[in-house]
Amino acid sequence: MTAERSVLPGRFSGLSIKLIATIMAVILLVEIVVYLPSLANYRASWLDDRLRVGVVAARVLDAVPDVMALPRELTDRLLTSAGAYAIVYRRQGQSQLIELADPFSPDVVVTADMRQRDLPSLIMGALDTLFAGPGRTLRIVGEGDIGSSQVELLMSERPLRQEMLAYSRQIGIVSLAIAAITAVALYLLASYLFIYPVRRLTQNILAFRQAPENASLVIVPSARRDEIGIVERELAAMESDLFSMLRQRRHLADLGLAVAKINHDLRNTLTSAQLLSDQVATLDDPKVQRLAPRLVTTLDKAIGFAQSVLDYGRETAALPVLAPVALRPLIDDAAFEARLVGHPHVVFSNGVDAALILTVDSNQLGRVFLNLLKNAREALEASNVAAPQVSVTTAESADSITISVSDNGPGLPPRARDNLFVAFEGSARAGGTGLGLAIAREITEAHGGKLVFVDQPQGTRFDLVLPLSLRVPN
Ligand SMILES: Nc1ncnc2c1ncn2[C@@H]1O[C@H](COP(=O)(O)OP(=O)(O)OP(=O)(O)O)[C@@H](O)[C@H]1O
Ligand SMILES: [Mg+2]
Repeated sequence: MTAERSVLPGRFSGLSIKLIATIMAVILLVEIVVYLPSLANYRASWLDDRLRVGVVAARVLDAVPDVMALPRELTDRLLTSAGAYAIVYRRQGQSQLIELADPFSPDVVVTADMRQRDLPSLIMGALDTLFAGPGRTLRIVGEGDIGSSQVELLMSERPLRQEMLAYSRQIGIVSLAIAAITAVALYLLASYLFIYPVRRLTQNILAFRQAPENASLVIVPSARRDEIGIVERELAAMESDLFSMLRQRRHLADLGLAVAKINHDLRNTLTSAQLLSDQVATLDDPKVQRLAPRLVTTLDKAIGFAQSVLDYGRETAALPVLAPVALRPLIDDAAFEARLVGHPHVVFSNGVDAALILTVDSNQLGRVFLNLLKNAREALEASNVAAPQVSVTTAESADSITISVSDNGPGLPPRARDNLFVAFEGSARAGGTGLGLAIAREITEAHGGKLVFVDQPQGTRFDLVLPLSLRVPN
């Protein structure tokens, strides 16, 4: 519960701005891909238009035997209508030229050969024109209309470039407008469909986490049937579960506190009684001598019970503190504490590989084994099986490691079986509190594992199944 609290991002810093930016970027990218061929086509048809005038002029030139004899006025008009400085007509190795009266001197001449019409060269030509500086002269080459004739026009590149720039500007404006309109439309749609509901969920989760005892913060799910609708309904269910669990927990905690107080006083009273009984035991009276030991053990039991209840109450919800621990010595220690080591009758065997190392909370896991081994010893002591023994073994599967604690005692009594792992309920033993197995299971589950009772014809076996990921590879 220590995780930092998150803050909801502003209207345009979260999902929405990413969405708008992505949509606009994609549309503009698509526009560029479409723009290049269309610009190339625009230039090609512009050049074709000029060439057509050139071809008409060529037809005139073809018809007259001597170009020089043509009136100057006519040739000038032909040239200006094509916007050209000069027109050259070539046919069967001969060429004829008309040019403007004012002489011109081209510095840089670029050739636009309109007989080459593949898309890459058209695009390259268009880019060349667009990025060239002003002042170049364009030489447009194309086929004439008769046989293998050829027409050439010489003209300034400027008008073409200016028209192409204007065309590009237009496309740019239209593209931006399309991108903006689409982005806004998609944004509105996405806002309505996703962003708004996700923000509502996020806001609700943030608010609920701050005050989970406030039932009015439980989200009211909408009637949507899609994934978001499912999330809303599940969240509502989770929040109401959490709300009632918290309330229940608070009540239990209050009750527990009261029990702990009563229990604490009880234990103190019992301890005073124990002191008294110890003194009574020193009296010489034979009757007292006979009864005193029973009084002492009864009081011992009562104090033990009060103590373990107090311990359980103090059992905090502490997270396991994980560190690599050798399992074999851990179990040896637990067996020693459970008074199994050096026991006069019960034989204890620890079959755990000395090299086995697990990443666990050694105190908590030691407690699990202590409880299991103590139960086994108590069961064996209370029964009269021949050659009583307790053993611990391990087995590994693809994803888990199982540690089994088994004995050859009388097996679980029915009362214990019915309330297995239930605190205060599971005890079927005089003087038992019924906490051992409950605590053992809690600890195992906090480690991501499970504690299972394995039914078998003779004796008792508990399996501790831990995820294999806890094993430290050697
Ligand atoms: N190895 C076993 N063989 C036979 N019975 C067992 C064995 N382990 C547990 N039991 C039975 O299960 C009951 C519950 O065990 P658990 O450890 O939870 O409580 P407890 O031993 O009675 O009390 P506590 O451990 O809190 O002092 C025991 O009372 C006992 O009857
Ligand atoms: Mg026990």
